Amino acid sequence: MSEQEKPRVLSGIQPSGSMHLGNYLGAIRNWVDDQDKYNNYFMIADYHSLNTIRNGTEMRRNRKELVAMLLACGIDPERSVLFYQSELPEHTELAWIFTSLSPLGWLERMTQYKDKMSRLTETASISTGLLTYPALQAADILLYQADLVPVGADQRQHIEFTRDLAARFNNIFGETFVLPKAEIRKEVANVPSLTNPAKKMSKSNPDGNGRIDLLDQPNVIKKKFKRATTDSFRDVVFSDDPERAGLLNILSIYKAMTGKDEATIEAEFVGKGYGDLKVAVGEATVAHLEPIQAEYKRIMADKGYIKEVMDDGADRARRIARKTLRKVRRKIGME
Ligand code: ADP
Ligand code: TRP
Repeated sequence: MSEQEKPRVLSGIQPSGSMHLGNYLGAIRNWVDDQDKYNNYFMIADYHSLNTIRNGTEMRRNRKELVAMLLACGIDPERSVLFYQSELPEHTELAWIFTSLSPLGWLERMTQYKDKMSRLTETASISTGLLTYPALQAADILLYQADLVPVGADQRQHIEFTRDLAARFNNIFGETFVLPKAEIRKEVANVPSLTNPAKKMSKSNPDGNGRIDLLDQPNVIKKKFKRATTDSFRDVVFSDDPERAGLLNILSIYKAMTGKDEATIEAEFVGKGYGDLKVAVGEATVAHLEPIQAEYKRIMADKGYIKEVMDDGADRARRIARKTLRKVRRKIGME
């Protein structure tokens, strides 16, 4: 199949802090594994992060470190277009058009927005961008006429919003956008926090013990797993009992890190306890992350390489983004 005939994929990740195991298993690993299957566009969603990062030095550092990490995880700039969202004004331009077409009710219904609102008590400090965030995300996706959006389960609602908005635009102005679909891998679509399995593992959670950062040192990784919340049962089995969500989380990570199936894992721990499992998952994770960490260091030391990759990515992304935006401007009567 030629590049042009392959389904087109777009996904994004915010440069809002170190990448963690939730990002890796929920999204990035799928991006990496499926690079040959699709025509891929991967984006650093830096404008989305402006809602939370208001420090130029920090933003600049985070952006670069995130690119190095994506490359270290196996994103191949030959097979995938990697770019910074903010380098293409087409994204913010289309986001404004979409903001104008987004019913307020749709935006207010987003759980991520409601969740963030409920945690922020000072209304004065809540930025409007938290509300209009999905309109920018819809622009990210629709500019590339993406068929598929590989993400973790937390993003499902934003992709549905994008589909609804695309359909609304097509309805009002005539056929313009492909309706994208979320691609969510079931088993690791939601990696919960190690210390509070009711919450997702997240960059924005201040409790760092609940999160394995991809750059954590081996002893830190092992310690975090040792402290992970489990339950008062004893047997090491895959169970969907909500009380055992902590155990299921550790087992699912172990499964993802080793590639073993569930029966093999349960057999491995017959007569053993949670302590043994925690040691095993710590070691498996350290072993899996070791080559990624080494590659990350190498890329960070390679002066000029990241800029070269990102300049090339922006050029390739721009070709598609411009074409779509021109079509949109014509439809809405701006040209
Ligand atoms: P975060 O929520 O940590 O700030 P992002 O919002 O930048 O991370 O998410 C980047 C990608 O990682 C998205 O596809 C998102 O669905 C996925 N993701 C984030 N956290 C998790 C998690 N705990 N489990 C599974 N996938 C996740
Ligand atoms: N909102 C996504 C997140 O928080 C990041 C993102 C921005 C994204 N634009 C995107 C994801 C486009 C998929 C497609 O995880």
